[in-house]
Amino acid sequence: MRLLHVPGVFQPRSDTWMLIDAMRRQALPTGARVLDLCTGSGAVAIAAARRDTAVTAVDVSRRALLSVRLNAQLNGVRVRALRGDLFDAVRGERFDLIVANPPYLPAKNDTLPARGRARAWDAGRDGRALLDPLCATAAAHLQPGGAILIVHSSVSDLTTTKRSLQATHLSVDIVAEHDGPLGPLLHERRDLLYDTGLLEPGAASERIAIIRGVRTQEATATATAAPAAATR
Ligand SMILES: C[S@@+](CC[C@H](N)C(=O)[O-])C[C@H]1O[C@@H](n2cnc3c(N)ncnc32)[C@H](O)[C@@H]1O
Repeated sequence: MRLLHVPGVFQPRSDTWMLIDAMRRQALPTGARVLDLCTGSGAVAIAAARRDTAVTAVDVSRRALLSVRLNAQLNGVRVRALRGDLFDAVRGERFDLIVANPPYLPAKNDTLPARGRARAWDAGRDGRALLDPLCATAAAHLQPGGAILIVHSSVSDLTTTKRSLQATHLSVDIVAEHDGPLGPLLHERRDLLYDTGLLEPGAASERIAIIRGVRTQEATATATAAPAAATR
């Protein structure tokens, strides 16, 4: 894949490629609808479009949209690029696969950056400002049998993500994981992470996981039979 770098747009890193690998291994029906949330450069969307799928890419950043459009053209694939906050731009739509590498780094405070590079990674004090609404809403955007793949760091509470996906009747598993040293941004913030208990004092590594939630046929039947249960 060839990628042009648009200044100010998150450049693909190792977790981007982990997500692409997991996405390639995910079985998809012919002509599947795929949503790449928080698309950044568009690398994941383009990899998906190469599988003969109908891909929508969403990002809140105008520069990211420019990037995904340029890069899709460069790679000879079609991607529908929409600007919006998480699922806002695809209200009422359902997908066979949703992929997301959202901002997930714990930050000094809960105010999310409205612009600038940090918008790609800052996610409030617990790192869950985007993960929480994403987990709560994903099931409503999945076709029966559809799946979501989310990039996750061990510092932003994998257990809460599992539970909130399960609360919406998705079946959850981990499809890839990798232990490694803290990335440069987390390394800079390690004292904050020790103070807030998000990292064991002295720890210098994190686990990156790809978590999958699947909307099984049984779960769909349960959700249809008792819609109120899913929201309580
Ligand atoms: C960690 S980057 C991931 C980029 C790309 N998917 C990748 O894996 O390389 C996160 C992206 O989320 C976007 N973003 C931040 N807040 C968002 C929101 N509320 N809704 C949609 N996209 C958002 C940022 O602009 C950034 O491009």
